[in-house]
Amino acid sequence: MISNEIINIAYIIACLFFIIGIKNLGKPATARRGNFQSMIGMAIAAAAVYFESNPDATIVTDKGIADFWHTGFTESGFLWSFVALAIGAAIGAIWAKKVKMTGMPELVALFNGFGGLASALVAISTSLLVIAHFGTTQEGDAQMVETIATGLTIFIGTMCFSGSVIAWAKLAEKMTGRAIVFRGQNIINGLILLAIIGGIVLYVMPNEIINPDMKFIVMIALAGVSLVFGVMFVLPIGGGDMPVVIALLNSISGLAAATSGFILENTALIVSGCLVGASGVILTLIMCKAMNRSISNLLFSGFGAKDTVSSKGPGAEPKAISVEDAYLILESASSVVFIPGYGMAVAQAQHVVRELAAKLEDNGAEVSYCVHPVAGRMPGHMNVLLAEADIPYEQLKSMDDMNPTMPMQDVAIVIGANDVVNPAAETDESSPIYGMPIIKAYEAKTVFVLKRGKGRGYSGVENELFSMPNTLMLYGDAKATISSLGAEFAAE
Ligand code: TAP
Repeated sequence: MISNEIINIAYIIACLFFIIGIKNLGKPATARRGNFQSMIGMAIAAAAVYFESNPDATIVTDKGIADFWHTGFTESGFLWSFVALAIGAAIGAIWAKKVKMTGMPELVALFNGFGGLASALVAISTSLLVIAHFGTTQEGDAQMVETIATGLTIFIGTMCFSGSVIAWAKLAEKMTGRAIVFRGQNIINGLILLAIIGGIVLYVMPNEIINPDMKFIVMIALAGVSLVFGVMFVLPIGGGDMPVVIALLNSISGLAAATSGFILENTALIVSGCLVGASGVILTLIMCKAMNRSISNLLFSGFGAKDTVSSKGPGAEPKAISVEDAYLILESASSVVFIPGYGMAVAQAQHVVRELAAKLEDNGAEVSYCVHPVAGRMPGHMNVLLAEADIPYEQLKSMDDMNPTMPMQDVAIVIGANDVVNPAAETDESSPIYGMPIIKAYEAKTVFVLKRGKGRGYSGVENELFSMPNTLMLYGDAKATISSLGAEFAAE
């Protein structure tokens, strides 16, 4: 028999693992460990739930186990829980293994959505169970908390689900990835929100005012309207803002888990839901700051609904250079900084970058890497790729640390980055990226820009860095160009 004290201690230990895990996820060097620690926390929490719901599971006599297997295990639904766990774990593992790095935000979007749906289903099934058992929703202070939590979870969970499905569809190009805006959109959204608030209020009303049959209808209507709200919430957000909205939906799915924790009276669920909710909000705000956008501008402005082109034209024709000539400059460089962007992810050039860096170091150059917080298409995108190539963490510099030393760098190699090094963010007030902090690559003595052609960055604006006097363009796929540069070193 496992006492409640032991169960509660197990929950506290699980929460400690979650907190330590999240802390370690904050740095590339400790991220794997953090992931593993969070997994242990989840395993402890799951085991605690199992023993809490079925204390007899601890009976160790053969008879006890056999009895439990034949009765409690199948009849209580545990069998089906384990079957569902096995199927879910198998699908998750195979999917996570197969997904390409560039497809990660889509996968996270769906994970968030299913998390929200799971919480909403917990709320709906608990509510149905209570009505079926007592013929009514229960009343009293404790039940009031539970009833409010049920209403909130149905709303938050279902809107998170439908919003995440739209986010997935936009990212997976199943529908237009642009912001979809129309006249009166904010007013319609406001009315939907009012209807949802009204629905929650009706749901928590005493049974004398709203009878259980009515409550059932209110609950279904609340779920339906919340689904519509989730769709409307994500439609006006598009393009480069999608990863931010996914972080926000992640936070919302955490909130849904926390409110469902109140329904189930499960402390670990409340704590872990709050942790997900808070970390998602922090991540959202970090990304907004890195793009110099406010959260309200991101959610309600319909940014990216139309083509945005900077008022500045393409400027002078960029100067192209051959790999052989670039090698001669690199060979005499004593400091080189790599600035990776989305194009490095597309080219999967991270491994050849490390090989070139090793050759530069053998040649006496000091090598560093500067990563912009929103380079690529998802948080930490570049950090993950560089870590995959075993690039030493101590060579990774933040934008704030690197920028003051940029004029001392002999060569800055911009690998498939565009917006994050675009000086228009500092100089062109009409540019949509104006105000976004950038890596000041243009201050390096020589800048190499590796890209395939005249493609624009995510924001769709021209980049005057490419035509600056100290910039030399190395056209071609980044992986092929870096490999050729490495081959030049090897040939010497
Ligand atoms: P981008 O501005 O998107 O530029 C990528 C560049 O890579 C393009 O100019 C493209 O030019 C080049 N490229 C593509 N494939 C290539 C290949 N195989 N080899 C070489 N070059 C290649 O990238 P960035 O500088 O990393 O900026 C990220 C953008 O995404 C920002 O606007 C940011 O606000 C936005 N965003 C990011 C996030 C996160 S969390 N990371 C979230 C929201 C928004 P060519 O076509 O000419 O090759």
